[in-house]
Amino acid sequence: MPKVFRIDIILFNYAYHFTCNLHVKSNGEKMKVYLDNNATTMLDPEVYEAMKPFFMEMYGNPNSLHQYGSETHPALRIAMNNLYEGLNAKDEDDIIVTSCATESINWVLKGIYYDYILPGKKKRIITSEVEHPAVISTCKFLEKLGAKITYLPVNSDGVVEVQSLKDAIDDDVALVSVMCANNETGMIFPIKELAAVAHEHGALFHSDGVQAVGKIPVDVQELDVDFLNFSAHKFHGPKGIGGLFIKDSRPLTSLFHGGEQMGGRRSGTLDVAGIVGMGKALKLAVEHFDEEKNVRILRDKLEDALLKIPDIFIVGKKDQRVPNTILASIKGIEGEAMLWDLNKHGIAASTGSACASEDLESNPVMEAIGAEADLAHTALRLSLSRFTTKEEIDYTIDVINTAVKRLREISSTYSYAPKGHKSGL
Ligand SMILES: Cc1ncc(COP(=O)(O)O)c(C=O)c1O
Repeated sequence: MPKVFRIDIILFNYAYHFTCNLHVKSNGEKMKVYLDNNATTMLDPEVYEAMKPFFMEMYGNPNSLHQYGSETHPALRIAMNNLYEGLNAKDEDDIIVTSCATESINWVLKGIYYDYILPGKKKRIITSEVEHPAVISTCKFLEKLGAKITYLPVNSDGVVEVQSLKDAIDDDVALVSVMCANNETGMIFPIKELAAVAHEHGALFHSDGVQAVGKIPVDVQELDVDFLNFSAHKFHGPKGIGGLFIKDSRPLTSLFHGGEQMGGRRSGTLDVAGIVGMGKALKLAVEHFDEEKNVRILRDKLEDALLKIPDIFIVGKKDQRVPNTILASIKGIEGEAMLWDLNKHGIAASTGSACASEDLESNPVMEAIGAEADLAHTALRLSLSRFTTKEEIDYTIDVINTAVKRLREISSTYSYAPKGHKSGL
């Protein structure tokens, strides 16, 4: 049976239980906790309000010459300013709006292939083993077209070390592409140092900023990157809209050819509501950076509680991660089993990248850091947002403690006794 059907059936069963087991909050509402914010986030209500007029009132095409078109311009200007300010981009730089980070990433990698590798100016692209599938799959595609791709390993914290880039790079490298922060672990990568190494060898530097933009300050001038992509739905903006920062408006063969939108660099009628929403969302995210301290406090509370459970392992040091993410490995408990137990109690989490979770496969980042296969199957990713509350975290701690006890009791791979642990659960 195809895996997708298998998971559908299992989810159906759990969906049935889900309706029966929801905890009731003090105000009488059923408890629902969303801890999958690295997959996507809730639209901020203020963003929603900002977008609303552009669906049914100011719905003109900004490129039209009549007032329906021109009345959208002030809001577009404000939104684009918010993006420039949010990333500290200069006027000479380009920020091109795209449909998502996947498109931006495809554009950079394929553009570099067209501009440098196909004409024989350079041969190689360097990336890392733990990039998002948007990078890895595009690199695999370019490999088939003749590009030489090097996938840098990561250390036991899941981070690319600067020395490994130094060892791999030579003057034949057209582009180095390494993410700002990892989607599974939340670990922050040394982008400034990696970009400096790339530039010393005449290579351009791209960073997938999806899991960093809106969570921690990202300053494109400070990092000195040539390209950096982002996606609005990861920072409480709408889905289906993202962007690509291009330093000094450097030429790059376009992915989309057509009209003259975005200076002819990315054709297609502008999604005014989306752009307004993305600009507003980034502005709010930057304004809320102080509140990210609350996210960190709640994340650390959850993490400290998890670490009291025996045989649990959390990837990466807290202070080197974005403030919202925990990737835990709970020995003896399949990630999917835990996920469905949590789902039954109204808690949404993940075992890995949302795009890969239908496959019931092990967590790829856990594998890359060298975790044993059975541990890589026990990954549980919990990702908070500025909308997560203390009540939700207290509830999650209770549910996880109970679930660990229940699932380990029926686990064929976990035994409390031989290691002499007292579970204390
Ligand atoms: C690190 C990273 N890069 C790229 C993407 C793709 O983003 P989008 O959904 O905007 O295509 C994601 C989405 O999960 C991500 O986490």
